Formats: sequence, C-alpha cells, structure tokens
Amino acid sequence: MASSKPRRLDQWLANCGYCSRSEARPLVRSGRVTIDGERATDPGEKVRSESIRINGEPIEAPEGLLAVFHKPAGYVCSHDGREGPSVFDLLPARWMKRNPVVTTVGRLDKDTTGVLLLTDIGPLVQHWTSPRHKVPKLYEVVVDGTIPESLIEVFARGDLMLADEEKPCLPARLEITGPSEARLELTEGRYHQVKRMFGEQGLNVLKLHRSHFGTYTVESLEVGKWRMLEIPSIPGVQIG
Ligand code: URA
Repeated sequence: MASSKPRRLDQWLANCGYCSRSEARPLVRSGRVTIDGERATDPGEKVRSESIRINGEPIEAPEGLLAVFHKPAGYVCSHDGREGPSVFDLLPARWMKRNPVVTTVGRLDKDTTGVLLLTDIGPLVQHWTSPRHKVPKLYEVVVDGTIPESLIEVFARGDLMLADEEKPCLPARLEITGPSEARLELTEGRYHQVKRMFGEQGLNVLKLHRSHFGTYTVESLEVGKWRMLEIPSIPGVQIG
C-alpha cells in the first residue's frame, strides 16, 4: 500500500468514524491512541495513517472504504429509519460516523438479495451507477409464469419502454435457465428495473438475487456478511 499523506490526527480519527472532531482530544488523552508505538498527546499533530493505532489496532480503511455485502431479504438500502429495517443496521456503527458517510452503490429492493457494494468514495459511486459506463449487473430471477423464448429477443432489442420513462431500456441479455427462472444482465439500474421489465410482459418477479456487480460477487460470503475490498484504480476516476 502506498504511504498516506500526513494529516492532523484528529482529522484521521473523526473522518474514519472513531469520534467526532471535538471528541478527538479526550480520545487522545485517554491513551488509547498511539503513533509509531508512542502514546499520542497532540490531536493536531500531522501524521500518516499507517503510524496510528487505536486500542492497538490500525485505523480502518484510512484512504476510503469499499466493501461487498451479501444483502439479506427484508432490509432497505436507506439511511432513513422510517423505511423499515435497513442494511445499515447490519453494518459497523462506525461506518455511519465516517466522513463522508458509507453509502450503498445504487439500491436493491427490500426483498432482493445479493451483491451490494458499500463505499464512502463518491467518485466510485458515480462511476458505478452511471449508465454511461455500462457496468454489467447480473440478476437471478424467478417469476410466476412460464418465460417465453421470445423474451430473449424482446430484452435484447433495446427498445423496451417502461411506463413513465422517456427512453427505452438498454439492450439486456436474458438466459432462460428453467420454465420460470432466468438470468438477466443489465448495464443500467433504473428504479425496480427487473420487476418492471418482466411486469411489462405480464410476469411477476417472485424472487430476485443479484449474483454479480461488475466483477464482484457474494461467492463464499454468508448472507448478512461483508468483505473489505481493495480500492480499484479505474481509468478516468479520480480517487482521493
Ligand atoms: N431490479 C429490481 O426490480 N429490483 C432490484 O432490487 C434490483 C433491480
């Protein structure tokens, strides 16, 4: 890992969610923070993140956090507690105290399971959610009827209009894997897109699981668990 730029100790602590800026002084005074093995005393001291330990542990994701989460059914992707149980309830509370705060890359519906990326790196969210970049997302779908072969062509043509939309859906690749089961690859992420695409054809989605987001998967990741990821370098995306 490249060494970080020196920054004020209280900035590292607050931005990475260990405390508020005003709580940094008492935290440092408590003796729980060390710099290169020595007890820290000055919250304003300029340090590299690698030198810091809090309760003996290195600072988490000092240069930005990226994780893949296996979303369970029954949780919304929202910070608004009024919308019901949230995926953020299942994640470390510290992530929500980071600055910038950790958010989901796009959203999955409450009943959808599978790959959900989490990050506090705005340029990554913008890159991965923009339809211009055509990041492939793969969904496993179960519907309440028989999927006709003709749907492969309907979805591939790129002229499917959804209600209240001005532009047709981009071409999507459908693979029928059973009478009522399919895999659908989308390169955009409109509101309830999979359900609306099948709905236009008179089929209701009963089960929806996102197995891939770009190259990321939830393979070997238990439902409700996450894995930290390396921050990728993407041409044209300026991070930090
Ligand atoms: N499309 C949907 O309809 N729902 C999701 O959660 C994701 C894609």
